[in-house]
Amino acid sequence: MERTLVLVKPDAVQRGLIGEVIARLERRGLRLVAARFVQVDRKLAERHYAVHKGKPFYDGLIAYITSAPVMAMVWEGPNAIAAVRQTMGSTRPTEAAPGSIRHDFGLTVGRNLTHASDSPQTAQEEVNLWFKPDELITWERDLDRWIFDA
Ligand code: RTP
Ligand code: MG
Repeated sequence: MERTLVLVKPDAVQRGLIGEVIARLERRGLRLVAARFVQVDRKLAERHYAVHKGKPFYDGLIAYITSAPVMAMVWEGPNAIAAVRQTMGSTRPTEAAPGSIRHDFGLTVGRNLTHASDSPQTAQEEVNLWFKPDELITWERDLDRWIFDA
């Protein structure tokens, strides 16, 4: 079982797509662990995107992620990290697979709607950055045995 951090970014929040993103992750069979609606400040933005510091798009990225609230969530399931990135689609919406969120709702890399952790290590770091331990809910879902095989 893996856990991964998902952000519904400011553009998707402004466009009324929080429910669409949650619906797709629920439909995929993933299980919600935590959720928080957050106005991101510069400090959190810089910590979250530390890996991109110095890149040409960094200042625009920080401005984007702090421009309106985001919906931060943790989702879990078998292979959740890869599954969620597949549901989001490639970073550039014009390269994202048809049926993915970025394909279905996006056009430009600078307004690509969502974030998802890209490895087990970053998932753990990002979950810890965005949530306190007692905000992560461990629970059983009655349908799990029909979705998860272990
Ligand atoms: P994310 O971290 O947001 O899930 O996206 P990602 O892994 O698919 O892409 P990443 O390489 O981590 O880039 C983080 C975010 O920076 C913006 N970006 N802009 N203008 C550009 O060339 C450019 N490249 C990346 C995107 O918002 C991307 O999601
Ligand atoms: Mg990334």
